[in-house]
Amino acid sequence: MAGRLAGKVAFITGGASGIGLGIAKACVNAGMKVVMADLRDDHLEESLGFFKAEGHAAQVHALKLDVTDRPDFARAADETEKIFGRIHVLCNNAGVAIHGGLEAATHRDWEWVLGVNLWGVVHGIEAFVPRMIAQKQAGHIVNTASMAGLIASQGLGVYNTSKYAVVGLSETLQKDLRGYDIGVSVLCPMGVHTQIRQSDRNRPAALRNAMAEREGGAVELIGRYLPPEHVADRVLRAVYANRLYVITHEEGLTPLKRRFERMAQAIEESK
Ligand code: NAI
Repeated sequence: MAGRLAGKVAFITGGASGIGLGIAKACVNAGMKVVMADLRDDHLEESLGFFKAEGHAAQVHALKLDVTDRPDFARAADETEKIFGRIHVLCNNAGVAIHGGLEAATHRDWEWVLGVNLWGVVHGIEAFVPRMIAQKQAGHIVNTASMAGLIASQGLGVYNTSKYAVVGLSETLQKDLRGYDIGVSVLCPMGVHTQIRQSDRNRPAALRNAMAEREGGAVELIGRYLPPEHVADRVLRAVYANRLYVITHEEGLTPLKRRFERMAQAIEESK
């Protein structure tokens, strides 16, 4: 989408808080129409209130969506088309995080985190990509992964697994959609000031652990915590430039290099 974004339509999951809301604000400032899709009514109400107060009510539609619910996603796509017409920028951003060793991860931990972080992205692709292809216009997909999708950290195994999958999916999707003029970016930040550490509030009752099963604890990330607006600015730049990787934290370079050096060394040692 090297051209102008003004007048185009963005659909953002987890769009009513943190990074998603930052992207929504950046899109509105670029003159786009935005669908904020989110699980939480309180986040939707508060964020919609913000856009109304800023005089942008006509540009923003708030939509309740659980990204783990495939039929609900199709309904959300229909609603978006009805309200704003075609969709040009899809941001599969909704996510949750938990902390704790893989040896103690419960099946419910896996189901919840993969359900939101991986299946949520898959459902977004299923609901929107066929429509984006059919409309024969330039488009872009931004999948929010994490630096945890490129570097593994002790205690983040379930989250790492979901985010590595999103990176892999995005890298392939970019190749697959190139011929349709639909670009793909994968966002891989380290710490960002958001509500991610209160993810547990978004965990459905059916996937909660029995108290004794597992003690998770809040997720603590290393490195600087950037404001969501900074991250959103880098996302829009990547959409304009059609850049695959959006890596917002330069301090990620050292562990990334270390990972690839270890792989190079493994190849040397296996000669
Ligand atoms: P946040 O908690 O502020 O925002 C996430 C939003 O997603 C919330 O509004 C929440 O209601 C919504 N959500 C949760 N489950 C959902 C579901 N099943 N369906 C629809 N919406 C749902 O957190 P943040 O940080 O803005 O998270 C956005 C993305 O950024 C996530 O994918 C997260 O993994 C990723 N990320 C965040 C980092 C950080 O330090 N904050 C670092 C790296 C990646």
